[in-house]
Amino acid sequence: MRTNRTFTMLKPDSVKQGNIGAILEKINASGFKIVAIKLTQLSKSDAENFYSTHKDLPFFEKLIEFIASGPIVTAILEKENAVEDFRLLIGSTNPGDAVEGTIRKMFASSMTQNAVHGSDSDENAAIESAFHFSKREIFE
Ligand code: CMP
Repeated sequence: MRTNRTFTMLKPDSVKQGNIGAILEKINASGFKIVAIKLTQLSKSDAENFYSTHKDLPFFEKLIEFIASGPIVTAILEKENAVEDFRLLIGSTNPGDAVEGTIRKMFASSMTQNAVHGSDSDENAAIESAFHFSKREIFE
C-alpha cells in the first residue's frame, strides 16, 4: 500500500549542533509538507518502546542512550510516496555510505549519531506517528 505520510525525528545530534532549520529547509525543498511537528525529549523507557523492534540487536543500548540524551524534533511529513522518497532523501543508516546531497551525508557523523530517523514502512509510519502525536496535533 502506498501512503502519503511518513514520520521523522531530528535526533539529539541535529538539535545540539543547531541543524534543525537547515534540515527542515531541505525537507521542505524536497517537496514534503509538515503536517505535525514538536520539540520533545524521550525518556529511556519511551525510547525502548519506540525502538522495541530493535531490542535484541547488539547496538540497542547505545541507540537508547543516545536518542534519550537530549531534545529531538518529531514530525509527520506528507508527500506522494512519502516513506520511500524520504528514505532516499535521508540516505544510508551509515553516513559513510550515504550518497552526496542526502541529509545523513550532510549532517550525520556515525551510525548512532545519524542525524535523522525515517520510518521504514507505511505501517511503521502510522505506528510511530501515533506514538508521538495525538489526532488534534496533526493538520491537513
Ligand atoms: P534509525 O533510522 O533511527 O533506525 C534505527 C537506528 O539504529 C538507526 O537509525 C541507527 O541510528 C541505529 N543503528 C542501526 N544499525 C546500527 C549499527 N550497526 N550500529 C549502531 N547503530 C545502529
